[in-house]
Amino acid sequence: MSTDIQANKTMPAFNNDQFTNLLNKFNESGPYYTSYPSISGWVEAFDHHDYEKALKDFFAGEGKDTPIHLYVHIPFCAKLCWYCICNISISNDRARIQEFVNYLLREIDMLRNFFEKNSIKPNIREIHLGGGTPSHLYTDQFAQLTERLSTLVDLNSLDEFAMEIDPRTTNKENLKFYADHGVKRISFGVQDFDANVQLAINRVQPVEMIEALLPPNIRSIFDGLNFDLLFGLPLQTRKTFRNTLETVKRLSPDRVTLLKYAHVPDVRKHMKAIHDADLPPPDDLPLMFTEAVQTFLEHGYEWVGFDHFAKPTDDLGMAVKNRTVGRNFNGFTTGTTSHLIGIGPTSTGAFGNYYSQNFFEFHDYFKAIDEGRFPTFRGYRMKKDDVIRRDIMFRLLCDQRVNFEDIDVKYAINYKEYFEYELAELRHQFIQNGVLDFSGTTMGITTLGRCFIRHVCRVFDTFNRAANYKIPRPVLKSNRSLM
Ligand SMILES: C[S@@+](CC[C@H](N)C(=O)[O-])C[C@H]1O[C@@H](n2cnc3c(N)ncnc32)[C@H](O)[C@@H]1O
Ligand code: SF4
Repeated sequence: MSTDIQANKTMPAFNNDQFTNLLNKFNESGPYYTSYPSISGWVEAFDHHDYEKALKDFFAGEGKDTPIHLYVHIPFCAKLCWYCICNISISNDRARIQEFVNYLLREIDMLRNFFEKNSIKPNIREIHLGGGTPSHLYTDQFAQLTERLSTLVDLNSLDEFAMEIDPRTTNKENLKFYADHGVKRISFGVQDFDANVQLAINRVQPVEMIEALLPPNIRSIFDGLNFDLLFGLPLQTRKTFRNTLETVKRLSPDRVTLLKYAHVPDVRKHMKAIHDADLPPPDDLPLMFTEAVQTFLEHGYEWVGFDHFAKPTDDLGMAVKNRTVGRNFNGFTTGTTSHLIGIGPTSTGAFGNYYSQNFFEFHDYFKAIDEGRFPTFRGYRMKKDDVIRRDIMFRLLCDQRVNFEDIDVKYAINYKEYFEYELAELRHQFIQNGVLDFSGTTMGITTLGRCFIRHVCRVFDTFNRAANYKIPRPVLKSNRSLM
């Protein structure tokens, strides 16, 4: 089994008997480990007081001068996509959206005042405008937002300023406007180019429309373009998806994010508009995925983590080569920043050993800001065990390998004792199936195993374990040999 996918550019065939049990695993739902613990493990006993304490603690230590990523959540969209799992609100009521923008500006003010009061000078290096649909803001609202953000950081000095765009809500003039206001990288929600699939998901955006937005003189004003794609959508087949991939190749985005459609009609009632009978057979999903991986690799993209692809000339592609890939709530990153502060309803933060999340409901979000409180409603303070496990998971996700000797040294543990349960599980579940390799004290994910990194991470996840599992105590390093 090869662990060097970037060198051999070949995805092994998936549809043979050896992998039957893995095929079932592929479709298991489970955490994506954009954080550890996953949000379900955070506690509501983490309010604005805890958030302020966490910020002070972080910036007094590790956070001093450290590059920071700022995420801003714009929850509004023009029209509901039936597949959408995001935290959104459909509205075209401009007064309502402006009311929200006013509160968002006040949250930015609150953060800036907090920094000033505590003599904190955050080294914000990256901003990501996500949602929802930031491009659903009117340009004057967008300008209000960037103007206020520029009181936190000089937007022209940023390493990265990215923005999510629904192509149906923009035009070439607006794209130029965003670039003039500092945006360097744009991401289009594409999902699929097939006309029938687009109808079945209530999102009609013909390829000609997207192409017309991206002539060379527009492409050249941005450092990079990402397409979001989904597989597993209604009426998608392996054949139609191959056609979509051909179109993607032709339009040649710098990055692609390829996610499996999560169909959870019990959680997102609007997904009931998607008929189960229209969904592709579950056994086709790993094939769609591996065919897409193969297509992108053959076309020269680097495979980032398990669900991102980037041209070798793109910062993210270079991060693969330089082994600096990072992970945050937006997926795989260049690794320039490891700490994230979130603004806007439902936004999550991840800085130092802390996680936090803002209120979901506008009412709660607005009330907190009216009362001068950060709108935090839950969070988590990581323990040493969480930090060790997150480190292992993020190394597996980002580099597809982890050297346990390094972990022993970094955390003063003996991995063979500390992870006795996990190593036995890995041997049982994954090594025999060709998902994992061991070489000395380094554990590597094989090429095929990339489809299952999340499942491997789950073995290290004590929050999703049997109730009788006991977290081992750190012990002194005494034995470095292979499991
Ligand atoms: C915030 S948007 C992207 C920007 C903009 N709102 C748009 O749709 O063009 C949401 C992204 O989340 C992902 N997403 C939404 N619903 C999903 C689902 N049910 N399963 C997996 N990914 C989903 C898709 O990649 C989608 O492009
Ligand atoms: S996919 Fe994008 S545009 Fe569609 S509802 Fe979700 S966030 Fe809004």
